[in-house]
Amino acid sequence: MSKAVERPVIRILTLFPDMVRTVLETSIPGRAERQGQVDYQVVDIRDFAVDKHRTVDDTAYGGGAGMIMMAPPIVEAVESCRVSEQAEVVLTTPQGETFDEVRTLELVDKLQQTGELILICGHYKGIDERARDLVVTREISIGDYVLSGGELPALVIADALVRRIEGVLHNSDSAANDSFTADRDGGLDCAWYTKPEEYRGLNVPQVLLSGHHANIARWRREDAAARTRERRPDLVVTRQERRNDEE
Ligand code: ADE
Repeated sequence: MSKAVERPVIRILTLFPDMVRTVLETSIPGRAERQGQVDYQVVDIRDFAVDKHRTVDDTAYGGGAGMIMMAPPIVEAVESCRVSEQAEVVLTTPQGETFDEVRTLELVDKLQQTGELILICGHYKGIDERARDLVVTREISIGDYVLSGGELPALVIADALVRRIEGVLHNSDSAANDSFTADRDGGLDCAWYTKPEEYRGLNVPQVLLSGHHANIARWRREDAAARTRERRPDLVVTRQERRNDEE
């Protein structure tokens, strides 16, 4: 496998560049950029419109309600910034595959190999199919509901990815045993407590105050497993089933 690129770039193509920039400057994604672990390029799709009104959408051929994003501004925006022909070009759309931690890790791998990831924020009723045919390599949905635009989904994807770039998270915000990670067997995280020890009659479980590391680790494993069974039985896959899948 090729060596990971040191400072990969996430390029976001959007009609709302200010909104996207503001979020990327904040919290862990912002810190990752300031620390030089990732770069962001925000591309305004309107800069690739060809008329003086900077039009990027039009009515659908064949009629029907809703506006469609035109192919030329999208295709040309991608071509203006894409460096690697191998780069993944993701369109955010409710019709895409549903985003999850497995897809996060796949995209991080691709980002580190090719040095870039392009996220196109869809809008209105959708995009002209020819833009899909010409430049889109993957379509991702963040869930079965329809948002007003693809900016929030693109930011969700970017945030999930950046946390998984080596060195971005410090010990204090480690992802090692987050929900959905291998440490949690793909299941949910356990309950966590901090000071005070007692609040409105509710106490921190005694074992967490015991200083007994093995017992604490066991309690956390069991609590995580119990939560997963109760809240997300769909995530519970027995070891035997997983082994069968791998064979
Ligand atoms: N655009 C609108 N809704 C969306 C969703 N659920 N996921 C991805 N992109 C979208």
